[in-house]
Amino acid sequence: MSDKKTSNQMWGGRFASGPAAIMEAINASISFDRKLYAQDIRGSIAHSEMLAQTGIISAADQEKIAHGLNTILKEIEAGTFEFSTRLEDIHMNVEARLADLIGPAAGRLHTARSRNDQVAVDLRLWVKDECFRVAEALKGLIQALLDRAEEHAATVMPGFTHMQAAQPVTFGHHCMAYVEMFSRDLSRTRDAIERMDESPLGAAALAGTSFPIDRHQTAKALGFREPMRNSLDSVSDRDFALEFLAMAAICATHLSRLAEEIIIWSTPQFGFIRLSDSFSTGSSIMPQKKNPDAAELVRGKTGRVTGHLVGLLTVMKGMPLTYGKDMQEDKESVFDAAETLDLMLAAMTGMVSDMTVNAAAMKKAAGSGHATATDLADWLVRTLGLPFREAHHVTGRAVALAEEKKVSLEKLSLEDLQSINPGITSDIFSVLAVQNSVKSRTSFGGTAPSEVRKQIRHWKKRLAKG
Ligand code: ARG
Repeated sequence: MSDKKTSNQMWGGRFASGPAAIMEAINASISFDRKLYAQDIRGSIAHSEMLAQTGIISAADQEKIAHGLNTILKEIEAGTFEFSTRLEDIHMNVEARLADLIGPAAGRLHTARSRNDQVAVDLRLWVKDECFRVAEALKGLIQALLDRAEEHAATVMPGFTHMQAAQPVTFGHHCMAYVEMFSRDLSRTRDAIERMDESPLGAAALAGTSFPIDRHQTAKALGFREPMRNSLDSVSDRDFALEFLAMAAICATHLSRLAEEIIIWSTPQFGFIRLSDSFSTGSSIMPQKKNPDAAELVRGKTGRVTGHLVGLLTVMKGMPLTYGKDMQEDKESVFDAAETLDLMLAAMTGMVSDMTVNAAAMKKAAGSGHATATDLADWLVRTLGLPFREAHHVTGRAVALAEEKKVSLEKLSLEDLQSINPGITSDIFSVLAVQNSVKSRTSFGGTAPSEVRKQIRHWKKRLAKG
């Protein structure tokens, strides 16, 4: 007795009444799994209907159960439902209230079911809904990028490798690169929906049940394609949550790359874009500042989403079949990643739509840094028949001369250029202008405005098709 008191004083300080309170605190999930209330009630109604139709419970009991569950749904939505930590999770909270409302018939609902298949079906329904939400949000972002791309299909800007100006491209082409990325995210989301579209309900604790249930019926009633084919896998699988988090982490990574570019572009040093006031803040001390907070937060929140993926992978690693309470740790990562990703997508869509593009600054930067050097080399190959390696060398000498004279490549005189290679003619100047350089890159997927517009048409059509 006194032993217990001493150890309790050592490790139970925070808790009201020793081991029982600590167990309650570590065991309870109601503080976060209450988010699943609608899915839990939907699942229970479908289960009860199936139990009645297969003659496992009476139609009268089923009616009471469904009525009670609908009352609970209204109570939760009205904010009058009292959640209790002592009742551990959403499943027991709902069932206990059902017993208050309808009496002994409530006890029949859990026939041929376990919390193991119940929680699996609840979370699957929730993640599936969220995937549809993400798909819609992604379509909105893709549309916003397509609109900007169309507007700026011919707006030249420097293209970068190693963050060094490499060759001129168009801003529309740059936007379209993100359309490709977010379209892959959209396709990943759809693939994930396809795979998670199977119902675990009816696996019971792990082994199935001796009651004559109809898993196909509940699967259909809940909008799943079919029931999962292995009861052990049904209660132990969390791939659907992992796939959602993996998609979310990749999508967040894409968002962070665009966010980083927005941050760089909006610096006074670049001045390529101006963010709208709604997506930036001023400094309380430096009046000249306009900070790209929303973009920085998109960049920063990526860490959180990726962390949730790694977190759940680590929870699931080494989990023996089938269910283990470890798996209760799946929910908070999924919920927070979902909420974070939704917000990131909305903020990015807003920034892309609202930002002002400074085409003159982009064009000026595109012409600096001898960005058309490759065009000069290509001209030497095409017109004078030089091997590319030699053309590269000649061009290098032209660049060195331009640097020596402190002018850009296209500002060298014909005599200057002919001093390097006497075969050069004034025709060279047509390729040294950035606009012409961009126009000439008509290869499939290239930066020529005609090609960019072709790709915009392709994605618009695909987006319209859904
Ligand atoms: N709250 C639990 C969870 O989220 C529900 C399943 C409990 N199952 C059990 N056998 N204790 O995982």
